[in-house]
Amino acid sequence: MRVLVTGGAGYIGSHTVLQLLAAGHDVVVADDFSNAKASIIGRLVNLSSKQITVYTVDLTDEIATEHVFASEEIDAVIHFAGFKAVGESVAKPLSYYRNNIDTAFSVLKAMDAHGVRQFVFSSSATVYGENPVRERTEDMPTSATNPYGWTKVMIEQILRDLAEADESWRIAILRYFNPVGAHVSGDIGEDPTGIPNNLMPFVAQVAVGRRDKLQVFGDDYDTPDGTGVRDYIHVEDLAAGHVAALDRIGTTDQPLSVWNLGSGQANSVLEVIAAFERASGRDIPYAVAPRRSGDLPAYWADPSKANRELGWEATRTIDDMCVDTWRWQSQNPDGFPDL
Ligand code: UD1
Repeated sequence: MRVLVTGGAGYIGSHTVLQLLAAGHDVVVADDFSNAKASIIGRLVNLSSKQITVYTVDLTDEIATEHVFASEEIDAVIHFAGFKAVGESVAKPLSYYRNNIDTAFSVLKAMDAHGVRQFVFSSSATVYGENPVRERTEDMPTSATNPYGWTKVMIEQILRDLAEADESWRIAILRYFNPVGAHVSGDIGEDPTGIPNNLMPFVAQVAVGRRDKLQVFGDDYDTPDGTGVRDYIHVEDLAAGHVAALDRIGTTDQPLSVWNLGSGQANSVLEVIAAFERASGRDIPYAVAPRRSGDLPAYWADPSKANRELGWEATRTIDDMCVDTWRWQSQNPDGFPDL
């Protein structure tokens, strides 16, 4: 298939592009490079030895989005493009709602006009909101605690309504847990702009000497060691989940399916620090700080639906995730170069 990957220059998008190419698909990337460096494209071409068509495009622009579909024979779309920083979304709600929802609208509208019906959506475990049941299953009600999360809940609802109205759609909603790790080459990985918001890139920047120490946000949660517990999933396992979901919606008669993409394993902040120290051979200095507003104590995926229906499972351990993150960070201490 010829697959349009929106946000294909981003962290999860870029790893998925490589796996799509390895699986024999053609790839067209559409990205506005607002949160990605152009130099990643050369690395993707080198790693895959394949051609990648790239459109630098703001997908909130319906005319520009339509132009991509008019220029390319697209069979399916994997939609990653979107803003993703929780804290920033609280400070700039209009920007988050406008960007994330308008982007989805233009892409779905252009798909509709061109008869493209296969759509894989990058959603998040954040849509489970504050449910007290820590093991998340796909049938739980959805909710959110911040504008970023609400954009995911809202786009999921739009997709359900679309599938209800026209059952020729084949839509996969993929709810990611905590993606970490990097490609085994060390050539691509997560490259956050500014101070990292998430645990793993922060730990990696402490290990490489870019930051002095980590703050552990709370050690008095109701968890075995008191620190927050999450389901970390290797980005390569996550990328493989997208390829499996794309295969699956090509054969299913269901207009819409929802799958958790998680490992089903739960690790605390202190366990991640210890794993990273083993992987890097470096100390990770840290200090316990107050809880971060909006954080939950613990949650993880029940990935059994994806395991069963996609024939997919996460295979990489927390040690693999740290080893691969460290290879990327140590080879690229300042992230991707400017062109
Ligand atoms: C957040 C988002 C989630 C998003 C995910 C991956 C929410 C509430 N959270 O998840 O939607 O999909 O990022 O981008 O919507 N921690 C520290 N020190 C740090 C950073 C984090 O102790 O400097 C702790 C946190 O308190 C938490 C754990 O590490 O217990 C993981 O945090 P983080 O990597 O930011 O991910 P989440 O908050 O789980």
